[in-house]
Amino acid sequence: MGFNSTIQKRAADVLFQRRLLAEKRADAVKREVFEKYPRARELDRGISDSGVAAARAVLKGGDVVEEMKKLRDSNLSMQAELKKLLTDNGYPADAFEPHYQCKRCGDTGYYEEQGRTVVCTCLRQTLVQEACAELNRTAPLALSTFESFRLDYYDKQPDPGLRLSPYELMDKIFKFCKGYAQSFTPTSESILMKGGTGLGKTHLSLAIANEVIRRGYGVMYVSAPAIAQQLEKQYFSRSQTDESLADMLTDCDLLIIDDLGTEFRTQFTVSQFYNIFNARMLRHKPVIINTNLNLRELEQAYSERFVSRIIGGSTKLDFIGKDIRVRK
Ligand SMILES: Nc1ncnc2c1ncn2[C@@H]1O[C@H](COP(=O)(O)OP(=O)(O)OP(=O)(O)O)[C@@H](O)[C@H]1O
Ligand SMILES: [Mg+2]
Ligand SMILES: [Zn+2]
Repeated sequence: MGFNSTIQKRAADVLFQRRLLAEKRADAVKREVFEKYPRARELDRGISDSGVAAARAVLKGGDVVEEMKKLRDSNLSMQAELKKLLTDNGYPADAFEPHYQCKRCGDTGYYEEQGRTVVCTCLRQTLVQEACAELNRTAPLALSTFESFRLDYYDKQPDPGLRLSPYELMDKIFKFCKGYAQSFTPTSESILMKGGTGLGKTHLSLAIANEVIRRGYGVMYVSAPAIAQQLEKQYFSRSQTDESLADMLTDCDLLIIDDLGTEFRTQFTVSQFYNIFNARMLRHKPVIINTNLNLRELEQAYSERFVSRIIGGSTKLDFIGKDIRVRK
């Protein structure tokens, strides 16, 4: 998956800041311990000086082997004493070591494996998050939150034919979406939001996006017409910069496709959507789809296979009520 250099730089910076923070914290603990226990400072200095002493011993000549053994023994006993001092006083034995977020690469983004340098998953994840943030800069994320979602727009009179009122139903949908966002994991279930225009589908899916992004996951929020057009344009111009669009749609932690069914449909776009959804499904990665179409219309537009395979396993939320754009 290719990322442009801006994204690469930002991701590298995120890891650099993590590293710095871990080192600063370790330093702060060290200073605190030195302050309270001067013996710890002596030990720490002694341990780092023993390397220099070893070099001196070699230069001086004489019984180098004997001298080195003495140095090593004294180094080990200083280390043991320091550890004991720390643990006796309620610190972890490795309190002076930086605690990196990623144990595998020490927040450098790379590690060695069988003599090869490997890109760590933490760097890959940061790249996806930065790329998503970049894409979402243009999406109207900020305004639609759970806090600004109001239930009093929905009628309390039971709907004819339904046992519940729009108010009661939307209350359930609202709570479901909030719970979903708050307990989101990259293998959460998929959601299909359907219903008439102006009922809060976009609002609630943006609220989910906000919360899931806040919790540190990579979310892509895209409208079906915009993304269909971009995928097509990219395919026919084979532009380099957009190379990773389909990959990002496939790889992000949560993909939200708004207004499915309003895009200009071609065999190409239908098969692209299918491939992206299918690849995500195979890896248990969730999608939230919003649409005005009902299941039959979806089948007509995208084929039965598409609907049963892609939409079959998702939680279906049916939005009802009167257009809130008009009410507002
Ligand atoms: N329950 C609500 N509380 C506050 N604002 C709402 C609520 N539901 C919708 N809105 C607002 O009303 C407008 C229309 O809602 P929204 O865009 O979410 O509808 P939609 O179901 O996505 O419609 P469409 O199918 O046409 O895309 C938006 O500005 C949205 O913020
Ligand atoms: Mg909408
Ligand atoms: Zn890592």
